[in-house]
Amino acid sequence: MQDKVWIFDTTLRDGEQALKASLTEEDKIQLAHTISRLNVDVMEVGFPVSSPADFRAVQRIAAEVKGPAICGLARAVSKDIDACGEALKGAEQRRIHTFIATSPLHLEHKLRMSLDDATNMAIKAISQARKYTDDVEFSCEDAGRTPHADLCRIVEAAINAGASTINLPDTVGYVTPDEYAAMIYHIRNNVPNIDKARLSVHCHNDLGLAVANSIAAVQAGARQIECTINGIGERAGNCSLEEVAMIMKMRQDHLKVHTDIRSEEIYRASRQVAKICNMPVQPNKAIVGENAFAHSSGIHQDGVLKAQNTYEIMAPETVGVPSNQLNMTSRSGRHVIEHRLTELGYQKSDYDMDSLYESFLALADQKGTVYDYDLEAMIYFNQIKDKDERYQLQFVNASSNSQSIASATVGIALNGELKQEAATGNGPVEAAFVAIERITGMAVEVVEYNLDATGKGASSLGQVDIIAKFDGKQYHGVGLAADIVEASVRAMIRVYNLIDRAQKVSSLKQQRKAG
Ligand code: KIV
Ligand code: ZN
Repeated sequence: MQDKVWIFDTTLRDGEQALKASLTEEDKIQLAHTISRLNVDVMEVGFPVSSPADFRAVQRIAAEVKGPAICGLARAVSKDIDACGEALKGAEQRRIHTFIATSPLHLEHKLRMSLDDATNMAIKAISQARKYTDDVEFSCEDAGRTPHADLCRIVEAAINAGASTINLPDTVGYVTPDEYAAMIYHIRNNVPNIDKARLSVHCHNDLGLAVANSIAAVQAGARQIECTINGIGERAGNCSLEEVAMIMKMRQDHLKVHTDIRSEEIYRASRQVAKICNMPVQPNKAIVGENAFAHSSGIHQDGVLKAQNTYEIMAPETVGVPSNQLNMTSRSGRHVIEHRLTELGYQKSDYDMDSLYESFLALADQKGTVYDYDLEAMIYFNQIKDKDERYQLQFVNASSNSQSIASATVGIALNGELKQEAATGNGPVEAAFVAIERITGMAVEVVEYNLDATGKGASSLGQVDIIAKFDGKQYHGVGLAADIVEASVRAMIRVYNLIDRAQKVSSLKQQRKAG
């Protein structure tokens, strides 16, 4: 029987903390369901003490998402542990992950304390966490730059205090695979109670070694890998879940370990994370990049036609890349859509068929043919459309030409009443944004504007992602339409709706405080 390596997903914690705009609660819930379908063992879904929004998202995921253990992060301080324990109360299986830095650099300059002080804080935090759950993980932050002897001391104390998982992160992505493996061997051979805990690794990708380091650690005896979908995370990111999972699946013969990951869920999860997090995947990214299974050279194409394994070490279907493309038209009925979505790996609970079909027909009338990627994009956009949004787009008319200034007229239903404004600008998008600003009476600063095509060819849908700043906070709006001005307007209206929601939440809080 081969050893199992636990997969600890931290897309919604380490991954999320690196995004330009925080995810909404709905985004997090949707992603949490997707991650659980990958069959990860543990999912770290937030840092509850960091904000009321994070606390609430962890609490909702704990109550709604079944399967993996749900984990929250906490510094080794009392209020963090309590917040984490409270947020996780609804989970069937819960884990508290507490950490403190152990490297001389962090101890001296960041924490200004000795290793003994840090050890005492860790012991206290772990003991407190054990009051909420038996499943406590302890991390030595910056373990990669901590002397082995120091690691041994604090790890032994942490296990004695009740930690059942010991995580040794390469927080700054500095070590090489042989150094990291040596650290794991050292801990295994020199910590007397190490058999009472599972050893875990958490690698950042600053030197592009996160995956190689994680696999080296597994070869040295680590049995949990912390990772994120598409490798998103602080700076250059974290170890990528799909890469380590597929390495262990495809090279079981050599590594003699396995994971419980359902590899067919990988592609869909990757696409969803890229869209929702506004973090596109590079085309040549291993496993999930657009070119990962594309053969360009004539010699290679000839080879795969003769025998697939000449140039392909795994079939695209293994990671859930759809093998065929079904094109739909306005004559396609609901059952065809549902059937196709099932084939693409979606469950009925992932979408609302009535509103999806309405959007599908509108698009089919506009474009003629609707492709798989259009359907997937629509699922996402139907999810994020909030039925009681304050601002609802009614129409947009824009005109531009190369000789004169552009103009746009936008109509928005504001609390049910139609408001319209016209404006001019350097281009139709700018003109439309000025018109929206006049309707809402609020100016937002556009920090980033990205236009992308979902699909191929001139009939692709335009996807616009906007990061906009208002009142010191950044918001991420997405819009999708065959017309790129309309897509831009939809993205901007989404931003205004998110601001509106944030304002409602904060005024509710103030009322509660006052009352
Ligand atoms: O990179 C790191 O050290 C972390 C810890 C909090 C585990 O993310
Ligand atoms: Zn990290």
